[in-house]
Amino acid sequence: MSDADGLRYTKIPLNNGSDEIPALGFGTLIPDPVATKEAVRIALEVGFRQFDCAERYRNEAQVGEAMRAVINEGKVNRKDVFVGTKLWNTNHRPERVRPALEASLRRLQLDYVDLYCTHTPFAFKPGDDQDPRDENGKVIYDSATTLTDTWKALESLVDEGRCKAIGLSNVNLGQLKEVFEFARVKPAVIQVESHPYLPEWELLDYCKKNGIVMQAFAALGHGMEPKLLEDPVVTSIAKRVGKTPAQVLLAWGVQRGTSPLTTSTSGRYIKENFDIATLPDEAINEISQGISRRVRLNTVVETGVPGFIPRAK
Ligand SMILES: NC(=O)c1ccc[n+]([C@@H]2O[C@H](COP(=O)([O-])OP(=O)(O)OC[C@H]3O[C@@H](n4cnc5c(N)ncnc54)[C@H](OP(=O)(O)O)[C@@H]3O)[C@@H](O)[C@H]2O)c1
Repeated sequence: MSDADGLRYTKIPLNNGSDEIPALGFGTLIPDPVATKEAVRIALEVGFRQFDCAERYRNEAQVGEAMRAVINEGKVNRKDVFVGTKLWNTNHRPERVRPALEASLRRLQLDYVDLYCTHTPFAFKPGDDQDPRDENGKVIYDSATTLTDTWKALESLVDEGRCKAIGLSNVNLGQLKEVFEFARVKPAVIQVESHPYLPEWELLDYCKKNGIVMQAFAALGHGMEPKLLEDPVVTSIAKRVGKTPAQVLLAWGVQRGTSPLTTSTSGRYIKENFDIATLPDEAINEISQGISRRVRLNTVVETGVPGFIPRAK
């Protein structure tokens, strides 16, 4: 395995928009605003060219400040960075979609995003409270708004050039097929939890057949139990090839044709996570076929309530 190979620069063609997406992505689900700014700067400087954001992360402004600073220093061109952000559940009503994207663009200090996804297929009660609850603490959904309504509003944003491509996050195969079949502008990307404990092969197969890119979040297991980074198959491959378990997991994600998203606030980890190299085929097969444990870490797909983001006090 060579450190100088081009795996880290892999790009995947898109069925819409900015031609292609850099496979290895940096996620910005970082609760601390100061740490967000620092992490995004480091990620750009070490070479990450794909960034995943969301209005729900409440830190688009810090992501934008960091990107703008690095662009203004002449270190990176805007057109070379693929930026995606996500529409939150409380903005699914068609009339709320454009203002939500415009607010994200303002915070990110951008004229357009390369990708705009619905964060979940669930519409919540519209309004400024991102986590609307009734007196019993139950989420208030908006049954008057369907995903079809929201998707049509997203299609108009592509027509207007405010986002180059549109996608869906936290969908299952049935929900994806439904949107894909009626859509005038097809989903270019889906963003779902995926790692060796949740490989989502069937979903990936459908995506590949239809030119949809599958972004895989929690690529390193989100630091939760069971610890994917300590899986014996992963650690033994890491030893054998002279890479870290994180690098093995990210290489597996890229080599099987997904776009793995990872996050860190540590400069050392951010650098490490970009420094991936191609794994031999037998290592890829060992992970794909030799790990049979199945775990979903994030239950957001079931309810629309984000599993990894603490509720605002
Ligand atoms: N669509 C959705 O609903 C959704 C949900 C979740 C996430 N996402 C996106 O996906 C991105 C990635 O998700 P994630 O946070 O679950 O990613 P992850 O990379 O699986 O987990 C991040 C955790 O791994 C640790 N880590 C990172 N690099 C490491 C390394 N080289 N060695 C050891 N530990 C390492 C981090 O620790 P430190 O912080 O200490 O470095 C952090 O605790 C998010 O930022 C977000 O953009 C989307």
